[in-house]
Amino acid sequence: MERKTRTAALISAALMTATAIVCVAAEIEERTAAARAVADAYQAQLRAELLKGLKEGAAAGAIVVCREKAPAIAAKMGAEKGCEIGRTGARVRNPQNAPDAWEAGVLAAFEAKCAQGENIIRMEHGEIVAAADGKRVFRYMKAIPMGEACQKCHGTAIDTALAAVIRQHYPQDQATGFATGSLRGAFTITQPLP
Ligand code: HEC
Repeated sequence: MERKTRTAALISAALMTATAIVCVAAEIEERTAAARAVADAYQAQLRAELLKGLKEGAAAGAIVVCREKAPAIAAKMGAEKGCEIGRTGARVRNPQNAPDAWEAGVLAAFEAKCAQGENIIRMEHGEIVAAADGKRVFRYMKAIPMGEACQKCHGTAIDTALAAVIRQHYPQDQATGFATGSLRGAFTITQPLP
């Protein structure tokens, strides 16, 4: 009888643990889907602004889009959605976009998946982590592939005049020499949890 009770208690504990794992997994899945939607909306707006900027003037003008509009759109969208939105990469143009330790780890994992031939378009990672203050935060990253339109400013053969303008604004620029189809960087989203 006693053994039966103990077995029942063990089974019940195991079930509770399993249920907790399933619940956390469901929460991560749900938050990942929401973060993906935010990243996709941010990407669509950025792309539209960039194409507009490139059409309206020289690429030098479009640099303003990347420098001023990208953080402005991110701030507005983040305020609406209750999260922080940014862009990062293993090699960055703006040192303010440099990855933190968690982001660097995810970027390295993305890079490894690229080496295995995985599709960059669908590469993402969501996780609940403890912030410095001990509170839970949800963190999400979505890979950004290097497109043909990005070659002008991040590519292997950047126009000399444009390269000079870029250097003037970003003396520490490391974000050049990317081949089309390679991993340029990632969107990064942080959401405080209740
Ligand atoms: C007109 C030039 C220009 C074009 C075209 C351009 N970028 Fe950028 N990109 C920049 C500049 C300038 C920054 C730095 C923005 C900042 O100060 O935050 C930047 C920053 C970034 C960053 C943030 C990380 C970092 O390096 O600081 C990513 C990611 C990025 N670009 C991806 C892309 C992708 C993908 C494309 C093509 C769809 C693209 N860029 C096209 C100029 C450009």
